Amino acid sequence: MLREKHHQYIAAILKRYPVKRSAMLPLLNLAQREEGYVSEAAMKEIAAILDLTPSQVYETATFYTMLNLKPIGTFHIQVCKSLMCALVGADELIHWLEDHLGIKVGETTSDNLFTLSVVECLGSCATGPMMQVNDDYYERLDRQKVTQILDDLRRNGTSPLKSGPFMCPEPVPPSS
Ligand code: FES
Repeated sequence: MLREKHHQYIAAILKRYPVKRSAMLPLLNLAQREEGYVSEAAMKEIAAILDLTPSQVYETATFYTMLNLKPIGTFHIQVCKSLMCALVGADELIHWLEDHLGIKVGETTSDNLFTLSVVECLGSCATGPMMQVNDDYYERLDRQKVTQILDDLRRNGTSPLKSGPFMCPEPVPPSS
């Protein structure tokens, strides 16, 4: 139960907002970090905390693609399919990932490691095709790079190929 485990944190979140309902997204995020997804029980608890009905919480939770409403794999791969990424091969990457992982978009691998999702613009349009895995961005992807990222994640739980800060437009290297 969120309230039992995170009593102080929830109190601090509620203090931030003049209207209780405004704390809904931070609480949904907390629930997701706790269980990996936002369960029905968590939505009911959040509704009780915020003096709302469960359906008021549900309608917000279903609006945001970053909130998962069912259990997902250890690594949630979200590939951007919006225009700028589509122009540089996002569709091909998505199909390749489906083949490589042996799952379709929306599914989780049988070892419960990877869930594949397709999402709208992640705000990294100049460095596509790109994907987000859990909290990290991976940009300028090609098959070789994605193969290495997936291997790194399997082995180490993280990959050094996650993005550094990019600048847009990128600085031109000084001419020699
Ligand atoms: S279009 Fe892919 S990150 Fe914006």
